[in-house]
Amino acid sequence: MKIASIVGARPQFMKAAALSNELRKHFDEILIHTGQHYDWEMSGVFFSELNIPKPSYNLGIGSGTHAEQTGNMLIALEKVLAKEKPDAVLVYGDTNSTIAGALAAAKLHIPVIHVEAGMRSFNKKMPEEINRIATDAIADLFLCSTKTAVEHLRREGKTENVHLAGDVMIDALKKNKQIANAKSKILQQLKLKPKSYVLATVHRAENTDEKEKLSSIIDAMVLSRERIIFDLHPRTLNCLEKYGLLGKLKNSANITITKGLGPIDFLKLQMHAKKILTDSGGIQKEAYALGVPCITLRNETEWVESVNAKWNLLVGADKKKIISALRNFSPRTKRTNLYGSGNSANKICAIIAKWWKSHEK
Ligand code: UD1
Repeated sequence: MKIASIVGARPQFMKAAALSNELRKHFDEILIHTGQHYDWEMSGVFFSELNIPKPSYNLGIGSGTHAEQTGNMLIALEKVLAKEKPDAVLVYGDTNSTIAGALAAAKLHIPVIHVEAGMRSFNKKMPEEINRIATDAIADLFLCSTKTAVEHLRREGKTENVHLAGDVMIDALKKNKQIANAKSKILQQLKLKPKSYVLATVHRAENTDEKEKLSSIIDAMVLSRERIIFDLHPRTLNCLEKYGLLGKLKNSANITITKGLGPIDFLKLQMHAKKILTDSGGIQKEAYALGVPCITLRNETEWVESVNAKWNLLVGADKKKIISALRNFSPRTKRTNLYGSGNSANKICAIIAKWWKSHEK
C-alpha cells in the first residue's frame, strides 16, 4: 500500500516525526511538504532535529490569504497526486495544508485518512474549525485523539471507520524528552533555573490580528511581573511591530524574547516551566502530558479534557484573568493518560492495515 502524507505547518512536522518512520515499517510512504511554513525556524529545523524523513516534494506555496494559500496548494497537490497515484492520502490536524490535501485527494478519488479527526471548537471564526469540519466531511478513515472527538463524529452521523487511536504528539513527546534533556543547553543559555519561569507563545489570528487583544495579552505579561520567556511566531512579531508593541516587551525586565527556537530547545523549556501561557492547541496537550499547568489564551478549546481535569485554564485575552492565572493558577488533581500513552503511531499503523485489507475486498 502506498500512502502520501501531507504536511506543511509546524504541528504537522511534530506529528510526522512520530508517525512517518513507523508508517515506513509497514507501508510505502512518501511525504509531501506544501511549503506553508518555509523559514528554517518554522520548518527546516524540525526535519533536522526530529529525524523526519526528507519530503519527496516541497511545493513551496508559502504565505498568502486563506484562498490564495489553499488554492495554490490544491493546484500543486493535484499534479503531484495524479503523478504519484498513492492508494491513500494521509492528512494531519486542521491547517490549510490539511484541507487542501484532503480535497485534492478526494477529487481524484483517492481515499483520505485524517489523523486528529473529530476535533471541534464550535467557533467557526477560527480558520482551523472550517478546515476540521470540511476535512472530516470528505475523509474515509478517521483517527481520533480523544473520546470527545469520537463523540463529535458520532453526533455528526459518522461511526464507520472511526477509531480512537490516541495522539501521536504524545508519542513524539515521549521520544523527544530524553533527547531534549541530554542535548539542549537552553536553560543555561537563558540563565534559567527549572520551575522559575513561565513559557509563553501567541500565534492565533484571533489574538494577533486585533490590536486590542494583543495589547491586553502583552500588558498582562508585563504587569504580572512574572519571569516570562516569550517565544515569538513570525506572525506575532509582525503584528507587534505593526501595533508598536514590541518596544514595550523589549523594555520589560521580566520578559525575555526568543525567536526561532528549535523543537528540542522548546521542549526543554516546556518540561521545566512552572506554567505555560499559550493559544496553541498542541502545546495544551503537551503541557498536560508533562504536568505543567497551562493557561490558555482562548475562550474555548478543542482539548476540553485538560480543562475538565483542571490542568488547563481558559482566560481568553482578558488582562485581569491572565494576571490572576499567572500568579495563582495551581492545579492539584492527579493526571491520567488523557491523550494516549505514547503508542499511537503503532495503533494507527494497525488500524490502517486492517482498513486497507477490508477496503481492497
Ligand atoms: C498555521 C495554522 C495553525 C497552526 C500554525 C502553527 C492555518 C489556517 N493555520 O498558522 O492552525 O497552529 O500554522 O504555526 O493553516 N510566516 C513566516 N514564515 C513562515 C511561515 C509563516 O514569516 O515560515 C508568517 C507570514 O507572515 C504568514 C504568517 O506567518 O503570513 C502566518 O502563517 P500561516 O501559515 O498562514 O499561518 P500560521 O499563523 O502559522
